[in-house]
Amino acid sequence: MNLESGWVPVALSSSIEPGTSAGAVVEGSEVVVWRDNSGKTHVWEDRCPHRGMRLSFGFVRGDHIACLYHGWQYDTAGQCRHIPAHPDLDVPATIRVPTYRAEEKHGIIWATSAADAAMPELADASGSTCLRSLNVDSPLQDVQAALDRRGFTKLGENAGTCTINSTLLFIGLQVANAQRTVLHMVVPAAANAAMLKQLSRWAEDFRFALESPELAAAEVA
Ligand code: FES
Repeated sequence: MNLESGWVPVALSSSIEPGTSAGAVVEGSEVVVWRDNSGKTHVWEDRCPHRGMRLSFGFVRGDHIACLYHGWQYDTAGQCRHIPAHPDLDVPATIRVPTYRAEEKHGIIWATSAADAAMPELADASGSTCLRSLNVDSPLQDVQAALDRRGFTKLGENAGTCTINSTLLFIGLQVANAQRTVLHMVVPAAANAAMLKQLSRWAEDFRFALESPELAAAEVA
């Protein structure tokens, strides 16, 4: 599922602090994920309308994000509000960044441009402990097949759960491109440090088995 057709996970909530931004890639499209100082998240096209600099390299100032290159500032609707080289200019409304809808749920930031997309629902979401985002250099179908072998239960197109070491893990699946998949992993309950350490080790092994299947098989043998 892409940004036009449904909610896509783009980052763990814990990875975007207030006043910070980061870049993400969804099916080859670059987006900036940023959080304003009030705590609200925003997901936009990662391209400044001036000369194309990535906005994810920019600076968040209150409820604006400023481009690193020439300092143009954009409000939370993507509208350019200030051009430092022309401080008295009433900035034309046409200078704006294409934006997506953004929501946080189950410890993950999601984005879409679809008006009626449904968010994955969890039966038991008493908490959410962000584990990590895992970049795997493998196509989605291979990642999906490997998860299926571990009893993955799908909750919509881009997410699901599986039980690892007796702990339920919620996983949002982001297709970066044809060869790279990002797994955003959350424990939907309270989790202690030992559990998280075990799950992190499992995640590393999972990636290793997908990216280097011959080496992983040799280690098992
Ligand atoms: S490229 Fe962004 S302000 Fe110039």
